[in-house]
Amino acid sequence: MAGRVDLDGNPIKPMTICMIGAGGFIGSHLCEKLMSETEHKVLAVDVYSDKIKHLLEPASLPWAGRIQFHRLNIKNDSRLEGLIKMADLTINLAAICTPADYNTRPLDTIYSNFIDALPVVKYCSENGKRLIHFSTCEVYGKTIGSFLPKDSQLRQDPAYYVLKEDTSPCIFGSIEKQRWSYACAKQLIERLIYAEGAENGLEFTIVRPFNWIGPRMDFIPGIDGPSEGVPRVLACFSNNLLRREPLKLVDGGQSQRTFVYIKDAIEAVHLMIENPARANGQIFNVGNPNNEVTVRQLAEMMTEVYAKVSGEPPLEAATIDVSSKEFYGEGYDDSDKRIPDMTIINKQLGWNPKTSLWDLLDSTLTYQHRTYAEAIRKAISKPVAS
Ligand SMILES: NC(=O)c1ccc[n+]([C@@H]2O[C@H](COP(=O)([O-])OP(=O)(O)OC[C@H]3O[C@@H](n4cnc5c(N)ncnc54)[C@H](O)[C@@H]3O)[C@@H](O)[C@H]2O)c1
Repeated sequence: MAGRVDLDGNPIKPMTICMIGAGGFIGSHLCEKLMSETEHKVLAVDVYSDKIKHLLEPASLPWAGRIQFHRLNIKNDSRLEGLIKMADLTINLAAICTPADYNTRPLDTIYSNFIDALPVVKYCSENGKRLIHFSTCEVYGKTIGSFLPKDSQLRQDPAYYVLKEDTSPCIFGSIEKQRWSYACAKQLIERLIYAEGAENGLEFTIVRPFNWIGPRMDFIPGIDGPSEGVPRVLACFSNNLLRREPLKLVDGGQSQRTFVYIKDAIEAVHLMIENPARANGQIFNVGNPNNEVTVRQLAEMMTEVYAKVSGEPPLEAATIDVSSKEFYGEGYDDSDKRIPDMTIINKQLGWNPKTSLWDLLDSTLTYQHRTYAEAIRKAISKPVAS
């Protein structure tokens, strides 16, 4: 670890990082990386710590003393400013970020992604602290290509669908389509951060994740989360596979997505943390344009990989179609396609994703099977109380 240098050959000095939302999926992987490969200290802020408890105890862990957990809700806790002041850098990951909530809990979604993030931005700006803020690829909304006639040749032209940080527009649906509450709140906080940079000199980096997936993402309903909960697509499909149920395809599973392995994406964040001169003032797409599939293809590949991992043959009817209204309720809508342009992150940080979709599903489903299969088997075999 000693003698590590940044991309310009300068020695990397240990820093204190206030990580808000550290107990979530991305936060847990980022904490792991920072503990095992750097000398930085983390003030881990969250309302939950389950996903990082393996990093917090026992006291004999090699990084003990470099990570402190602060259980607090940033909505209403006066300790937040003190923690930001103690740190050199703040990373804000806290958010409601599950599509099932965007149209059913739009107020919570807007408050979480905009209002609750405001004090974080304000304290960083007022105290001259650097901020890495997590936004989303959803800020792009729909592609320009989706408005062209179905048979238009232009639909094949990348200019109409590849998403670029500095030139692509943000195209959302009507206000009745409450699905866009999340994307719109994220867009407004991005604009505010950008304006704080321009007017008050805030040193910021904005991250737009494109479907990062891997172990510890969300929860399995009824096992380590509410039975009626609807997590993001990876955990939804994993839950179906573990329970030997058909995978539910919303509106035919025609949306196209690119998936990146969490460990590749964390490398990109690590580079941002340690290369402020290259990352400040930037908005970065972080995704894997080579791993593009429709959600239907994702379901088929997960079914195949899970059969290999579990040794159980797949169901004969592996998927079933459901309407978005039935699955998500009124006000749902979706982006058609999301391919990140990688020019900026490649130029500034030299980062490229490495892991293929098959390999990342293999390692993630191996984890899901090892972690949940037994608990699900017991839950299913338990007699229902009359
Ligand atoms: N995973 C992805 O592919 C992806 C895609 C797009 C955007 N993002 C963004 O990245 C960030 C992290 O995503 P994730 O996948 O790790 O989500 P996550 O839900 O696993 O983690 C978010 C964490 O924030 C915490 N949190 C929320 N509100 C809080 C509050 N008021 N006070 C304290 N803690 C609070 C939650 O308890 C949770 O542990 C989010 O901002 C999300 O919008 C992620």
